[in-house]
Amino acid sequence: MKVTKAVIPAAGLGTRVLPATKSMPKEMLPIVDKPAIQYIVEEAVNSGITDILIITNRGKGIIEDHFDRSPELEERLLASGKNDVYEQVVSISKLANIYFIRQKETKGLGHAVNCARSFVGNEPFAVLYGDDVIIGEDPACAQLIRAYEKYGKSVVGIKAVPETDIFKYSSLKVDKLEDNIYSCTDMIEKPKTPEAVLSLYSILGRCVLTPDIFDILDNTPPGSGGEIQLTDAMKTLAQTVGMTGVDYTGKRYDMGDKFGILQATVEIALKNPALAEPFKAYLKDLVKTL
Ligand code: UTP
Repeated sequence: MKVTKAVIPAAGLGTRVLPATKSMPKEMLPIVDKPAIQYIVEEAVNSGITDILIITNRGKGIIEDHFDRSPELEERLLASGKNDVYEQVVSISKLANIYFIRQKETKGLGHAVNCARSFVGNEPFAVLYGDDVIIGEDPACAQLIRAYEKYGKSVVGIKAVPETDIFKYSSLKVDKLEDNIYSCTDMIEKPKTPEAVLSLYSILGRCVLTPDIFDILDNTPPGSGGEIQLTDAMKTLAQTVGMTGVDYTGKRYDMGDKFGILQATVEIALKNPALAEPFKAYLKDLVKTL
């Protein structure tokens, strides 16, 4: 079955980026001239997704406003002849069919994904973590969808992380199938000891799941950090029917982390046609002073 639906969990509290995220959702933090979540929606659309459910919570209404029309602003832009910006602003509301639902309590990523059950129905669907922006020629979500179509199993986007960091992430048991594609038969969220580490491969930012994940999530107790972890539910899938891991191409930026936000801003600005040259010149001068 074709994957046309995606879920973007964006209801986290963003405690690692406080105080910026006290009243501003981290998913709305700008990278150059677009909020993080717009890059993610664009990746989904460029991967063939037509319907997107964004999971929000109290105080995240501006995410809804961003994907809505903005009549007063549009009128002003047209009246002042700013047709290019007008087109850009209007096109955001036409990217996809975008739906919203609130996760009423912040009980973890697994709990957030479980809020998507009635939207998803009985279809495979993509999950794009709302604070992970991935930039690349071939959209990461599309790479996972192709692996789903080829192998017929739920897919996780994976990347190797440094040995010193694996304790902050999930750790996966993987065996190579071809090039950058692996079979995944076990996983653990935030391993506590070196013995618990299965490999340095971790799930980063994207997955494609079959709808049987919902029954598993219903029976998943709170795990690491007292939250209902999506990894704990996917572990059941991995151990029973198996999953596929795709070491996707593309650069991932963690917008839930101050350093990740800085990297995203600098690197994406260097790719921006209007800013690249003056920004590069500025950086070169700045580097001399460091
Ligand atoms: P994170 O664990 O990175 O988000 O979840 P967080 O809880 O906001 O992080 P802290 O507070 O800085 O540690 C990954 C994704 O899952 C969403 C987040 O919005 C983020 O996009 N999420 C997390 C939810 O939607 N609901 C939750 O209950 C937890």
